[in-house]
Amino acid sequence: MERFELDPQLQDEIRARVMGDGFMKIVQTVRRNGKLFKIVMRPVEIGGVRKFQAEMTDEGQVRVKNFDAAGAAEGLEEIIAQKGAREMHLMTAKGDLHVRVTKKGHVLVSRSAEMNREVTVQPHDRVKKQPLTSFDSAALLKAIGIADGEGKVRASMRGKYDQVNEFLRIVGETVAEEPGKAFTVVDCGCGKAYLTLSLWFFLSQAMGFKDVRVVGIDRRSDVVSAARSMAERLDVADRVTFVECDLAALDGRDAMPEGLDHVDLVVSLHACDTATDEALAKGVEWKARYVLSAPCCQHELQKVIGGSTGRAQSDFAGLLRQNILRERLCDLLTDAFRAMIMRILGFRTQVVEFVSPDATARNIMLKCEYGVKSGQSGVVSEYLNLRDAWKVTPWLETRLAKLLDRHLSRYS
Ligand SMILES: C[S@@+](CC[C@H](N)C(=O)[O-])C[C@H]1O[C@@H](n2cnc3c(N)ncnc32)[C@H](O)[C@@H]1O
Repeated sequence: MERFELDPQLQDEIRARVMGDGFMKIVQTVRRNGKLFKIVMRPVEIGGVRKFQAEMTDEGQVRVKNFDAAGAAEGLEEIIAQKGAREMHLMTAKGDLHVRVTKKGHVLVSRSAEMNREVTVQPHDRVKKQPLTSFDSAALLKAIGIADGEGKVRASMRGKYDQVNEFLRIVGETVAEEPGKAFTVVDCGCGKAYLTLSLWFFLSQAMGFKDVRVVGIDRRSDVVSAARSMAERLDVADRVTFVECDLAALDGRDAMPEGLDHVDLVVSLHACDTATDEALAKGVEWKARYVLSAPCCQHELQKVIGGSTGRAQSDFAGLLRQNILRERLCDLLTDAFRAMIMRILGFRTQVVEFVSPDATARNIMLKCEYGVKSGQSGVVSEYLNLRDAWKVTPWLETRLAKLLDRHLSRYS
């Protein structure tokens, strides 16, 4: 037997512990020339199927790959065959095995007393606590930069972590489809893909959907290429894809992102300005069952209501004189118009606070589910009354004119 090599009996014990019942986790850390290489393998359930997830950290870069049992057995042989000084910690329901190979090649082995631990393969039922703690999200959070190399949520990313968690919580409460079916999501204005990638893992690993496709769309090439690399590192690049384009350039059903023939859920999280309206319009045009959209800044009404360039609304001069009040009023009016337009077009629509206002002032979400009668007279007349009182034409009305006109024209 060569120096650094594990004896055959110990190798067999490691194989039996990893491939047998009750396997929880194996971690091997190798330090070579001051550099750290770490591999963690654990059982996971993806879409109801038991797999092995390997998370490899090579000088701070994390990669994740999911294997079936045969692939995991091959990977394990590589772990066992590793040369040089290293440490291995193997956990099973019945106890722990520690193996340390010293710089001189001595192999030191210790075993814990027999235990009776519960195996923590994440079940794929509905979420109990925080969505991002309801499945094994360690590799995801590290890869998207929300967590540091030790797995702790970075202080600077706490706000984004909370927003993604709360967004996922609402997805979990809203989506009523049986997990057996395919489920397709488009994230409009996906940015660095925190939500886009989290959605795939949440729907697959926490909610148990077997066939989830997520497409992120953004007009910035730098964020799209960063998002693609993250998807590769997380081994989901065939299921989570990204399109670099302006949302306004995708026009109608024909331009559904490549490879999709239907969209179940359209999301947007702080997509700037009228990109939120584009997301809502896409949800309508693609006939998505759900649209969940947390708007961001909105400038359109500010140009036409009050202010130095806007039309004066004399009865409201006292309210419009203060910029901050005028801006907030315009945001509220914009979201009220958006909610009413979605309602007119057949979406049951609620406006909710999805995170605390302390976390972000942009804490409103439009929660829309298709399935109510479109063009109901009460909703249409409420919309027209508000619109005409403020003498504005909301951008979303213009954008969806083809679908809205037949409802509005009956009352104007
Ligand atoms: C404030 S960031 C939010 C990103 C991400 N949703 C998040 O919450 O982390 C807004 C993103 O929307 C993108 N965006 C804005 N308008 C867009 C448009 N018309 N088409 C495509 N992407 C757009 C921007 O490039 C930016 O990445």
